[in-house]
Amino acid sequence: MSWSPFKPDIIEDPANGHQHLLKECPVHHCEEFDPSFYTLSRYADVEEALRDIETYSSHWGQGPRFTEPAGMLADPPQHTNYRKLIQQAFTPKAVEALRPQVASLTDELIDTILDGPDIFDFHDQFAFPLPVIIIAGMLGVPSSDLDQFKVWSDMQVDIMGSEDPTKYMDEQMKFQAYMFNHMMNRRGEIEAGKDVPEDLLTMVAGARANDGAYIPDSDALSMLNQLLVGGNETTTSLITNLMWRLLEEPSRWQAIVNDESLIENAVEESLRFDPPVLGLYRTNTKDVELHGQVIPESSKIWINYAAANRDESVYENPDEFDMTRSMKRHMAFGLGVHFCIGAPTARLEAEVALRKLRERLPELELMDAGERIGPFFLWGRRTLPLRRR
Ligand code: HEM
Repeated sequence: MSWSPFKPDIIEDPANGHQHLLKECPVHHCEEFDPSFYTLSRYADVEEALRDIETYSSHWGQGPRFTEPAGMLADPPQHTNYRKLIQQAFTPKAVEALRPQVASLTDELIDTILDGPDIFDFHDQFAFPLPVIIIAGMLGVPSSDLDQFKVWSDMQVDIMGSEDPTKYMDEQMKFQAYMFNHMMNRRGEIEAGKDVPEDLLTMVAGARANDGAYIPDSDALSMLNQLLVGGNETTTSLITNLMWRLLEEPSRWQAIVNDESLIENAVEESLRFDPPVLGLYRTNTKDVELHGQVIPESSKIWINYAAANRDESVYENPDEFDMTRSMKRHMAFGLGVHFCIGAPTARLEAEVALRKLRERLPELELMDAGERIGPFFLWGRRTLPLRRR
């Protein structure tokens, strides 16, 4: 079997290729993309690559193209400084403080579903609005711009996975201008001594470098973009993937309805089985020899978290969705210095969503599997039609 992330059967379900990669092709070279890239898939190799940041650098971006370092899309010390700047918004206390807001928003979304037709799109009516409204609040931008955020965050991931990003230039300028305006307004308020909220916008807009000057706009904007996209699309996919797998086999959903103590494990098993980010890229700073193959210096390397999550040397029956398994650390949020800062927020949203859905819509049914989202390196449903009784 030849493998490529762009083959129709792999696009349709990336899991069709994991065992081949793991067992027969642990270092894969893909020449269908410009620039060509390598893929690492075994758990131990993925772990090593994410920990050894000197060899596997983030300096040229997380995507398949070589990009300029900006904000947190960089190596230490730049990465460390910028990550520290926003850390405060993601402490356990700060995340837990979001719980009432997540719960009441979830209730509102379920109210709207209950007022509408029996058959509804779970993506559009639930899994999409929940994270985007929460991240808009954390950032401090109006959630009334919701549909526009959807367009922009879809565009950001298209740009990341595309060989030629120039076609997105006009829309990208509009997005940058929108974020820049919000940032400048907030900066103006800070300078005028106004009482400003302690949100991510304040943390980024007010941040100064060691010389006392504001941090460069390009870094600030990169961070705001990363937060908007990172906090949005991925969590939507977690929630759609989770409900898809639970309803695909009605006994799984029934088990959750009967026993809420399974919720936490169900969320973790979804992240292992269907990671919303299939993998991100690093660039090697020297030749790497692995499994008898040499990856030449300065290659783009796709670190395939999704395949690592199916490595049978780590997980028993890896291709089975089993929410009772005792969970080992999965790779869905990466590892090491770039470990997803929003992981506790995403987990909170998925957990609260599941808790409310089982209480208020226990008789849900899957109509069909809907459609996959577009970008090859991401995994989620863009539609998920459900029926409520
Ligand atoms: C299920 C949902 C999510 C998934 C699967 C996910 C996945 C990831 C992964 C794999 C990384 C590592 C990047 C790398 O190694 O280069 C990452 C980093 C990051 N994520 Fe998430 N993420 C999720 C939710 C969130 C949320 C809710 C936020 C914000 C509220 C967020 C913000 C970020 C940021 C800012 C980084 C960069 C961290 C750094 O470079 O130090 N993510 N995410």
